[in-house]
Amino acid sequence: MEIGRIEITFKKYHAVGELAPGDIALIGKAKLLAKSAYAPYSKFRVSAVACMSDGSFVEGTNQENASYPIGLCAERVLLAAASSIAPGLSITTMAITYESDEVNTIAPIAPCGICRQSLLEFESRFGNSMRILLTGTEGLVYEFESVSALLPLGFKAKHLGR
Ligand code: THU
Repeated sequence: MEIGRIEITFKKYHAVGELAPGDIALIGKAKLLAKSAYAPYSKFRVSAVACMSDGSFVEGTNQENASYPIGLCAERVLLAAASSIAPGLSITTMAITYESDEVNTIAPIAPCGICRQSLLEFESRFGNSMRILLTGTEGLVYEFESVSALLPLGFKAKHLGR
């Protein structure tokens, strides 16, 4: 027996201004977008904005429901929209942020497990790395070079022989 160990590596910026102008703009879009999330139950508004391979943008926000389990995360709303509107385009970079009426939102949050798996499928489908930028309401930004970096040991089509 031996102990296996997996390390997640990401870049940590202490201020949004340390990023490239395109990334700053993407985060700015996401911060504005969070305000329009439909989250009357959790009061936790999440937004995701993707820069597509042709330079266009696709957005998603969380969509809740009085029947709680029906609710959708912002990331998967975005992926469904991107795959419907522009099925041939990969995502170059996705910015994800959030705001809340009830909890401290200073630190970045990372996508939930279901969203990580959905993001991985999207990344694998096109074979291009999707950069992920995570931020809260203050300056801290985490950058992952790919979804695989955020979800090591992910389950992929190849495990099904596809
Ligand atoms: N949420 C997202 O939109 N993305 C995530 O990755 C985590 C959670 C949403 C779902 C729900 O509407 C609210 O945040 C609280 O869980």
